[in-house]
Amino acid sequence: MNVYDSVRMVDILRGLGYEQTDRADDADMIIFNTCHIREKASEKIFSQLGRFKPLKDKRQAEGKDLILIVAGCVVQAQSAEFMKRVKYVDIALGPQAYHRLPEMLIKLERNRNIKTKRIIDVEFPIEAKFDSLPAAKSAGVSSFLAIQEGCDRFCSYCVVPYTRGAEYSRPMAEILDEARQLAATGTKDLMLLGQNVNAWHGEGEDGKASDLSRLVRAVAEIEGIERIRYMTSYPSDFTQEMILMHRDIPKVMPYLHLPIQSGSDSVLKKMNRRYTAAEYEDVVGKLRGVCSDLALSSDFIVGFPGETDKDFEETMNLVRRVGFAQSYSFKYSARPGTPAAAMKDQIDDTVMTERLEALQALLLEEHAVFNKRFIGKETDVLIEDKSKKSGYLFGHTPQMQNVLVKAPSTLLNQIVRARITGATAATLTAEFIP
Ligand code: 5AD
Ligand code: SF4
Repeated sequence: MNVYDSVRMVDILRGLGYEQTDRADDADMIIFNTCHIREKASEKIFSQLGRFKPLKDKRQAEGKDLILIVAGCVVQAQSAEFMKRVKYVDIALGPQAYHRLPEMLIKLERNRNIKTKRIIDVEFPIEAKFDSLPAAKSAGVSSFLAIQEGCDRFCSYCVVPYTRGAEYSRPMAEILDEARQLAATGTKDLMLLGQNVNAWHGEGEDGKASDLSRLVRAVAEIEGIERIRYMTSYPSDFTQEMILMHRDIPKVMPYLHLPIQSGSDSVLKKMNRRYTAAEYEDVVGKLRGVCSDLALSSDFIVGFPGETDKDFEETMNLVRRVGFAQSYSFKYSARPGTPAAAMKDQIDDTVMTERLEALQALLLEEHAVFNKRFIGKETDVLIEDKSKKSGYLFGHTPQMQNVLVKAPSTLLNQIVRARITGATAATLTAEFIP
């Protein structure tokens, strides 16, 4: 979601004559888009900002300036504290306020000679934000599109309901407009985004109440869009219609990010996740029943307060039973203001490290098993980039596997056929089939 927000900020600033650059030395303005989900992510911003202070000082000594902006959930969660800790930031804005960047920049310019010229905006006008975003422009052949934002689930460890706010679904017409703008500017592969994307609901263009499956059907009708994925899904929010999309809509890719967090029912309960491990496996079974080559991805948290060796073993066993193609796993991080942060039996960091290493080793094995099954098979690859390894192009299979293909670079942005020749846990290699 932060990547999507960053791209949209670029869209907004393009309208003011700004251009994106990869070199900080060339920049008139640097925006840091921050994440508050875990402490490690949150703390990164302070060291990052420190690196650019000398550049700002140098510019000011030359009578110029470097505008430093901090956006995102760290600002939302602790704006006052943040501004106190970092004195040289010009603008701090929350994730629901970035559409007001143009006004903020005007204000900043107008306040140039005032001592307290800094601007903070952590309001929550989520509808206003989406209403005032400019037309979207593809940055490449694969794009993100936010269809839903915020979350009402209140998992006991998670800051999202506090930083992103209440669950909100963008209207279907607005989503389809943005998807058409992206398709018209080169997007073939679209990832529909939401903190709880299965909760998306709205009114179809025919006025009928619609859920995610109807929305996806409408997106699939857009010419130019070849591949559709959606994330993040909540296991117990899958309806039969959503499962059947994976059988009935060819553009819906056989890939699903379905976080389980833990394989222990007692931990899931304390996490306020509203499903059991068996229910999770039941949904996976139904999805695989309609889409046998589905690649499943998941998130895991180890060391949630009170997690015993037995609870952790249940997570390991679930991983062995389900088999994941991809995954993200984290040590539990106590977040200020969440119920889990106040729970007894916080787990020792060394125990968390041991568990994380064991889990990640197992997950890597599972990823390799999944990928090796493809050796010798033919598949489609969407070519998205040139690899730094000379002569190779980089792309993704329908299952979202990374692939290196030796093929002419004229095939960039095309879907090509390729035969898989090698596989590791992270990457496939393939031969182009002319
Ligand atoms: N500690 C560790 N991981 C967390 N996540 C969310 N909150 C926390 C936390 N407090 C993980 C979950 C979620 C992913 C986006 O981040 O696994 O699915
Ligand atoms: Fe956070 Fe996801 Fe739970 Fe919502 S469903 S509270 S975003 S972990």
